[in-house]
Amino acid sequence: MTFLRKLWPAEILRSCKNALTDFRYGGFSGGYIRNPAPGAHGTGATDYAIMSQLFDGRIHPDDVLVDVGCGRGRVINWWLSQGLANRIYGLEQLRDVGEATRRRLRPYKNVTIIIGDAIDHLPDDGTLFYLFNPFDERIVRRFADRLWRLAEGKRVTVIYFAPVHLDVFKVALCWRIKELEVRVPSAGQFEERHKRFAVITPVN
Ligand SMILES: C[S@@+](CC[C@H](N)C(=O)[O-])C[C@H]1O[C@@H](n2cnc3c(N)ncnc32)[C@H](O)[C@@H]1O
Repeated sequence: MTFLRKLWPAEILRSCKNALTDFRYGGFSGGYIRNPAPGAHGTGATDYAIMSQLFDGRIHPDDVLVDVGCGRGRVINWWLSQGLANRIYGLEQLRDVGEATRRRLRPYKNVTIIIGDAIDHLPDDGTLFYLFNPFDERIVRRFADRLWRLAEGKRVTVIYFAPVHLDVFKVALCWRIKELEVRVPSAGQFEERHKRFAVITPVN
């Protein structure tokens, strides 16, 4: 049954569309690879079809963009496809995945891939942080603590897609949270969490 479902034509079309855009940026950026680190979720890419809902009107020319857990870099591809010249960081814990993404995106001088734990390597100059549910609640809490300190005196925005651990921000009472809906493509294996995202800014 799962096999038949995978062959569903609309879903094949959607995957092909994603892959075609990937190949404009040098290689396949989808698929799943498990991340064995405690609390970490594996790779799994944001669908291109929803990216404009997440980012349109939210990126300023002087923003420094950070994909927290960039995996194979599909979100970075999309940022580049929009002609953005902003400084971009991809943070990835899985060494092989991070090295492949770094190799593929080497032609883009505004892109830096940092390999290691994202919280330990959060760039101080980052202003817009994207998360596609990369890790569990404990690590989201570490991220929020680190970000709070980093945000002092400057504009910082978090875009949290499939925000399973949004409560971490809600209970802290020092974040302004806008919860929004995502229209997901009709074909594809989308869960309830994929139909939501949050835009989070510090209250200061
Ligand atoms: C769901 S994928 C999202 C990939 C990409 N952001 C996208 O939306 O297409 C989450 C990624 O976060 C990475 N990750 C999980 N925990 C991490 C951590 N502590 N530091 C850096 N990367 C991490 C995983 O290895 C995985 O590649």
